Amino acid sequence: MSQGKYYLTTPIYYVNAAPHIGHAYTTIAAETIARFKRMQGYDVVLTTGTDEHGTKVERAARAQGKAPEEYVTLISNEFRSQWQKLDLQIDRFERTTSAKHAQVVNKLFQACKANGYIYKGTYTGLYAVVSESFVNDAKPGDIDPETGKPYEELTEENYFFKLSEFADRLLAFYDENPDFIQPAIRRNEVLAFVRQGLDDLSITRTSLKWGIPVEENRSHVFYVWFDALNTYMSAVEGEGLWPADLHLIGKEILRFHCVFWPAFLMAAGWPLPKKVFAHGWLLFENDKMSKSRGNIVRPTPIVEAMGVDALRYFLLREIVFGQDGSFSFDALVGRYNSDLANGLGNLASRTLNMIQQYRNGAIPGSEGTEDIAQVANKAAMAAIAAYEAFNFSQALEQIWTIISAVDKYIVERAPWKLAKDQSGHSQQLLDTTLYTAAEALRITCALVSPVVPHSAEAIWRQMGFKEPVSQVKSEDLVWGRLQLGQKIGEIAPVFPRLDAKPTIQKMQELEEVERNRQAALIGQKPAADSAKPAEARDGHIEIDDFGKVDLRVGEVKHAEPVKGAEKLLHLKVDIGEAEPRTIVAGIALAYKPEQLLGRKVVIVANLAPRKLRGITSQGMIVAASLEGGAPVLPTFIEDVPVGARLK
Ligand code: MSP
Repeated sequence: MSQGKYYLTTPIYYVNAAPHIGHAYTTIAAETIARFKRMQGYDVVLTTGTDEHGTKVERAARAQGKAPEEYVTLISNEFRSQWQKLDLQIDRFERTTSAKHAQVVNKLFQACKANGYIYKGTYTGLYAVVSESFVNDAKPGDIDPETGKPYEELTEENYFFKLSEFADRLLAFYDENPDFIQPAIRRNEVLAFVRQGLDDLSITRTSLKWGIPVEENRSHVFYVWFDALNTYMSAVEGEGLWPADLHLIGKEILRFHCVFWPAFLMAAGWPLPKKVFAHGWLLFENDKMSKSRGNIVRPTPIVEAMGVDALRYFLLREIVFGQDGSFSFDALVGRYNSDLANGLGNLASRTLNMIQQYRNGAIPGSEGTEDIAQVANKAAMAAIAAYEAFNFSQALEQIWTIISAVDKYIVERAPWKLAKDQSGHSQQLLDTTLYTAAEALRITCALVSPVVPHSAEAIWRQMGFKEPVSQVKSEDLVWGRLQLGQKIGEIAPVFPRLDAKPTIQKMQELEEVERNRQAALIGQKPAADSAKPAEARDGHIEIDDFGKVDLRVGEVKHAEPVKGAEKLLHLKVDIGEAEPRTIVAGIALAYKPEQLLGRKVVIVANLAPRKLRGITSQGMIVAASLEGGAPVLPTFIEDVPVGARLK
């Protein structure tokens, strides 16, 4: 039976940057909650979308020589297609540039105004002339980098929202709804902020062009937050889904969601959302991952190299939801191997293979072993409670207690020994063991499915279930529901072990491709937007970047001219590997082949192979290149062994 509707939202993402795994983090968490709530019997609707108005976006569009309409559509589509690549099941994708949205924003404005909470006033601020916008964080006398002159003071007519009248009502609301803001630390922050008293809020601009016009006075457009927050309503306009059950957000937009938004809705006399949960930041290289800091990681390279479930699992297992946490490629592969390949994947494959081998693929009948039944029932209850509190890492930790208990149990029971003994007792014990492992796997698999839906579904099918795992309900997650005699499906590894080094290298290569693709899409130079820390820019590279170049000492074993190419020599260079490297070098005008025999040279050993004049060159010789002159090979004064690395 349906538990009723559950409507949840992610923030709508700014389109001044392409999506990265910080955005994916929220969207994946929201989608996991959606799956969990479905498992609990709710009719779930999940909304996301893009925030497309405002000066920043207008400026970004202008910088690309594009009209804002064209630019925002490009990036909005990029978000949509990224979520598709991650196979995120999103029900509504709302854009702030939709006509429906403009109507809803005006409706909210009208309702607030009709109730006396909106008035016309003037706003005075420091103004940047070139970008035609107020600079909120500037002080008088600060220099505008675009003109080299101090910002100008400008006064313009604005509509204001009487936020100052809402402090007491908001505090009373928080008091009556202690769960409205989560986690507690964020609630305390909001309480402290509101207790200081609130200032009225300017909600329109006449100086801004790229925004939703105020219908009753079209020289004004709505200012970003009055516009953006409304998407939560416009996305489900007319569907009877409002109020939202949950707004999932990052902690930096707490005030907008817990102070402004409820105040707007109170002013309009409309229902308030039930809950706002603010999670922490995903850090990369010790800093919040963000485009402006230039330290971003994109999701699709990870998905291509490791599968989407690896990313989902890592983000939700590694970081305590609500707190900040770090992303690293090493930790990602480490978690994958230890928890998924060696943990869940191993349990699935050994259980299913034993059923195949010892019972011809049919799950034997038994009640299972009491101890494991208890572990599984207890873990299932605890995991469900943890999911309920959006404590994903704890839910997963609980689920993994089943995996380790069953692993230990299998070793103790040693089914491979029981299988060799045909006595009734041993065969019965073997039935119990196999049933216990399979039933534990069923419960584990369903419990973990909100986080790793694709792999859970694969294991589920291998167990022989006909209905998808997404249709399992929480009440089925008690011991003893597995059908006797169920025939298992075809067994295939779900989480193959990955070698860290090549996997990370692959992701980094794909990251580069993806970065260039996005840059080309937006019409941007990729440099400023690379996955590098800030210090790495301005023409500098990181030590790690240098470390990627494998410079080796080699000895020339063979040299000959390349036919039809007067500048090239075809060399065989020994760098201490089984075979000498074939290298095509552009040094023929400076060196005769016989001069090079036995000479020590330096080569770049990890350059991608390249075909030159039909010969595949497996590296590059380093030489000083003089303007207009011939190349000069470096020499070592001391003796150096072949294969030595330069670093
Ligand atoms: N457009 C506003 C939100 C309006 S909601 C009515 C906005 N957009 S944003 O593109 O900057 O996205 C902010 C959200 O993206 C954060 O609140 C968070 O959910 C997610 N994240 C972006 N970078 C992130 C991290 N580095 N770490 C965690 N979440 C991140 O603000």
